[in-house]
Amino acid sequence: MKIFITGGAGYIGSHTCVELLNAGYEVVVYDNLSNSSPQALQRVEKITGKSVQFIQGDIRDETVTTEAIQGCDGVIHFAGLKAVGESVAKPLDYYENNVYGTLCLLRAMQSNNIKTIVFSSSATVYGDPEYLPFDEIHPLRTTNPYGQTKLVIEEILRDLYKSDTSWKIMILRYFNPVGAHESGLIGEDPQGLPNNLMPFVAQVAIGRRESLNVFGDDYDTHDGTGVRDYIHVMDLASGHLKALEALTFPQCTAINLGSGIGYSVLDLVNAFIKATDKPIPFIITPRREGDIAEFYADPTLAKNLLGWSAQRNLDQMCRDTWNFQSQNPQGYV
Ligand code: NAD
Ligand code: WQD
Repeated sequence: MKIFITGGAGYIGSHTCVELLNAGYEVVVYDNLSNSSPQALQRVEKITGKSVQFIQGDIRDETVTTEAIQGCDGVIHFAGLKAVGESVAKPLDYYENNVYGTLCLLRAMQSNNIKTIVFSSSATVYGDPEYLPFDEIHPLRTTNPYGQTKLVIEEILRDLYKSDTSWKIMILRYFNPVGAHESGLIGEDPQGLPNNLMPFVAQVAIGRRESLNVFGDDYDTHDGTGVRDYIHVMDLASGHLKALEALTFPQCTAINLGSGIGYSVLDLVNAFIKATDKPIPFIITPRREGDIAEFYADPTLAKNLLGWSAQRNLDQMCRDTWNFQSQNPQGYV
């Protein structure tokens, strides 16, 4: 089986390539490298001892995508922009890249009669919790343009399935991906100031940042700081493999990929210090606009439909993050 992986050079995509190659799949990575390095793919080859076919291209270019995708049996679609703050400042870029890009990809798939797709959605589609944990029937309403693009793409996929019930579609709603491959060869390498907590903590540990800003300690949570469901990127990668394997029959299904456990910012900082023996100086600052106090997944459906559950704990997430960061102090150079 040959799988077309859009955004396969990126953080989650590169780890999923490892999982697929190890399971015997062939992969074709299609990425415009707007937020990634070709080095990640060389390292995927080093980890697996297998080769990755790489095509530098943009999902918004339907003609090129239609040609590149020829001969593939299915698609895992990671390509897109993902920074919430940036999406508020540049909504058109986000709608163009994520929504228009996905439309072009789906048309390229249709032209080649490829009807199997696993799509990267996000827990952000649930918005402010009406109840917790989030299960898949929680109402969907997001609060920023990035989340809106994910929701619109989900709706496009549901409509597509209604129009042609031979499609095999899996929508995966990730919670908070962190960690790295255990080799430390691949990991998360944000450009500029990290938006997310774990990469920021890792850059403080390596000395690239002086201290962490903890965004608010007055939330209604066990220690006042924000609570999230962190999920190891290799667990996410195995979730994609399970999702592909579950697409043996036509469907359009949305599934949470989370651990079901909520940890606060301070829980994560303390776990990181314990796992790495590195000090993490921090200061408490005002809340970040748009942040939610607490959310975590109900991962039951993933267990029931995919036979998947998170295997790696917070300690391992911190150790593997540090392993990548300490081996690659400046990321992929
Ligand atoms: P990433 O930025 O590391 O990877 C995305 C990849 O897509 C990059 O390699 C980038 O170069 C490529 N890309 C972007 N636009 C493209 C285009 N128009 N054509 C071709 N390639 C393009 O991000 P990631 O963290 O690996 O996320 C992968 C997917 O998962 C994204 O769709 C993201 O929205 C989703 N997601 C991520 C998180 C997270 O916190 N990391 C959480 C939930 C969902
Ligand atoms: C986690 C917690 C912050 C940074 C975002 C997107 C979401 C998804 C994952 C793609 C919160 C706190 C953070 C810092 C801090 N992405 N924090 N200091 O906001 O849950 O989710 O990334 O789909 O859509 O919104 O993740 O890692 O930014 O924050 O105190 O420097 O850490 O307030 O409580 P978030 P995050």
